[in-house]
Amino acid sequence: MGKFTCFFILLHFLLITIIIQHVKPSTSLPLSTNSRWIVDEKGRRVKLACVNWVSHLEPMVAEGLSKRPMDAIAEQIVSLGFNCVRLTWPLFLITNDSLGSLTVRRSFQRLGLLQPIAGIQANNPSVIDATLIEAFQAVVSSLGKNNVMVILDNHLSKPGWCCGYSDGDGFFGDPNFNPDLWITGLTRMATLFKGVTNVVAMSLRNELRGPKQNTNDWYRYMQKGAEAVHSENPNILIILSGLNFDRDLSFIQTRPLTLTFSRRLVFELHWYGFSDGDAWTTNSPNRMCGKTVNYTMKTSGFLVNTGYPLLVSEFGVDIRGTNVNDNRYLNCFLGVVAELDLDWALWTLVGSYYLREGTAGFNEYYGILNWNWIEVRNSSFIERLSALQSPFRGPGLSETELHKVIFHPSTGLCILRKPSANLLSLGPCADSEPWNYSSEKTLELKGTNLCLQADESGTMAKLETVCGGSNSKWETVSESLMHLSTKLGNGTSVCLDVDSNGDVVVNGCKCLNQDSRCDPGSQWFKLVNSTRNGNEGRSTVDFGSIIDLRKVLPWNLWLNVKSVFDIFS
Ligand SMILES: *[C@@H]1O[C@H](CO)[C@@H](O)[C@H](O)[C@H]1NC(C)=O
Ligand SMILES: *[C@@H]1O[C@H](CO)[C@@H](O)[C@H](O)[C@H]1NC(C)=O
Ligand SMILES: *[C@@H]1O[C@H](CO)[C@@H](O)[C@H](O)[C@H]1NC(C)=O
Ligand SMILES: *[C@@H]1O[C@H](CO)[C@@H](O)[C@H](O)[C@H]1NC(C)=O
Ligand SMILES: *[C@@H]1O[C@H](CO)[C@@H](O)[C@H](O)[C@H]1NC(C)=O
Ligand SMILES: *[C@@H]1O[C@H](CO)[C@@H](O)[C@H](O)[C@H]1NC(C)=O
Repeated sequence: MGKFTCFFILLHFLLITIIIQHVKPSTSLPLSTNSRWIVDEKGRRVKLACVNWVSHLEPMVAEGLSKRPMDAIAEQIVSLGFNCVRLTWPLFLITNDSLGSLTVRRSFQRLGLLQPIAGIQANNPSVIDATLIEAFQAVVSSLGKNNVMVILDNHLSKPGWCCGYSDGDGFFGDPNFNPDLWITGLTRMATLFKGVTNVVAMSLRNELRGPKQNTNDWYRYMQKGAEAVHSENPNILIILSGLNFDRDLSFIQTRPLTLTFSRRLVFELHWYGFSDGDAWTTNSPNRMCGKTVNYTMKTSGFLVNTGYPLLVSEFGVDIRGTNVNDNRYLNCFLGVVAELDLDWALWTLVGSYYLREGTAGFNEYYGILNWNWIEVRNSSFIERLSALQSPFRGPGLSETELHKVIFHPSTGLCILRKPSANLLSLGPCADSEPWNYSSEKTLELKGTNLCLQADESGTMAKLETVCGGSNSKWETVSESLMHLSTKLGNGTSVCLDVDSNGDVVVNGCKCLNQDSRCDPGSQWFKLVNSTRNGNEGRSTVDFGSIIDLRKVLPWNLWLNVKSVFDIFS
């Protein structure tokens, strides 16, 4: 074998390795649906891990452009692990030409907001004298350049903060919600973004609600809207909201939609702590979690078992961690999202608004970015979401056998075996070994003869080879079904828990009574179905199908590759 051949073979392997690394996780658009999963053109699951970026308030400009260049914001969205943005827009932006053709500068001037003008001039000079529609397109395009998928969300008709029960903008026929105008607007939006690859979906209307809401009109107009968008842009997913602020899709169970097309329909759900007022604070968290999960499964969660994707297109909390109602809800909510492996969109990216409900520079404590749109408000919150940014299962992901991972919502981590001993601690879910939850209720590490055991309350949980005793049978207990409980030799029940070092221990089961002051968060776990193998990453998109080798190879190797290609071409 000559020296050149040898080099060539080496190069060949190198290239294949590089190409596999760069191509494998990337998505080829458009998206469609396969039963309850959203999939790419190759049939591989794409998990939407989105963040909401608001562009529907009075100025009708994507928030934050006065604080940072849009490309920098888009890059940060990617670096925080999101692959998608739900970008909100008000109907009148596109149906009222005198609004859509306002320049960004004029739009702020007419509201008396002068600071954002200076800020946009400094950070995004290219859009300050663009029309509102052009500025909106520029944001979508910046996201596209950074391989971020976009869901265009018609949030309301009249620009402003949303949503009140009787705000006249909640249901078909309300003063600000003319169904014909809505169809016109959706059609224009679908046309405007036809051929823009990173626009993967349109959600037709946010949080339907109000005294006029009824299912007959829901079917009538949602079907019309869906057909209108689809006929204009057949490549995008159509996302439909339920009634009662997007809390109720129960009617789909008995009456499916009649559409002329298939494999593009997705439903959306909104679920916050405040969806139930302050009930998370005034009730025992175990009871609340059991009740709200039951409610959610009945009103929308059932859809995944019926063969429709369900996107939780809004959820969120006060990210400072100071709102007890939010904190309790989030532990329960993240368990459900993990268990059902749902697609989702966090509320919100926004660190501060130009103007919200009359306040200029409104600080958004539900926003992952700080007021200045630069620092992350709370990095531990982002870490907590990260396990849910990758799919646990779904078509085309890997050949790994179905197994369980043991997810701990209050940290976003999973139970892992410690490297040096048969003890356990929390760590990244991506590093989880596969668990088998057997019909005898033992939790075994697959491929070993080790199972999870409890020796004594207050000590670390262990992996032992003697499986099948009462202290190695684990049941999900409490009204939340999120405690993993076993019985010690003397008959005492204990629950899996996590101590302050992140080690997995057993303790007396917390908060099984109805005490509203008791927070069981540290003892809440979910056994999550997974086929993920450790190396499988999140669904990233790469809209450029040709890999630019100059970017992925060291420059000297690139020159070699180029010369080889030059010889053969
Ligand atoms: C368009 O918006 C402007 C400004 O809000 C308003 O005065 C006008 O009546 C609207 N036109 C239509 C046709 O709704
Ligand atoms: C949830 O629903 C199940 C099945 O209907 C029921 O057994 C359980 O009691 C419910 N949980 C709560 C907390 O209401
Ligand atoms: C971040 O969130 C955690 C958990 O909720 C909380 O304890 C911490 O104080 C928060 N940090 C900041 C800077 O808000
Ligand atoms: C998982 O447990 C079941 C018993 O419930 C057993 O039949 C099966 O072989 C186990 N699978 C693996 C891979 O250990
Ligand atoms: C069982 O043992 C635990 C110590 O691990 C002790 O706290 C508990 O009181 C004992 N229960 C009974 C019923 O003896
Ligand atoms: C997890 O997998 C088991 C075994 O296939 C199945 O019975 C169960 O319904 C699955 N759970 C979810 C939430 O999909």
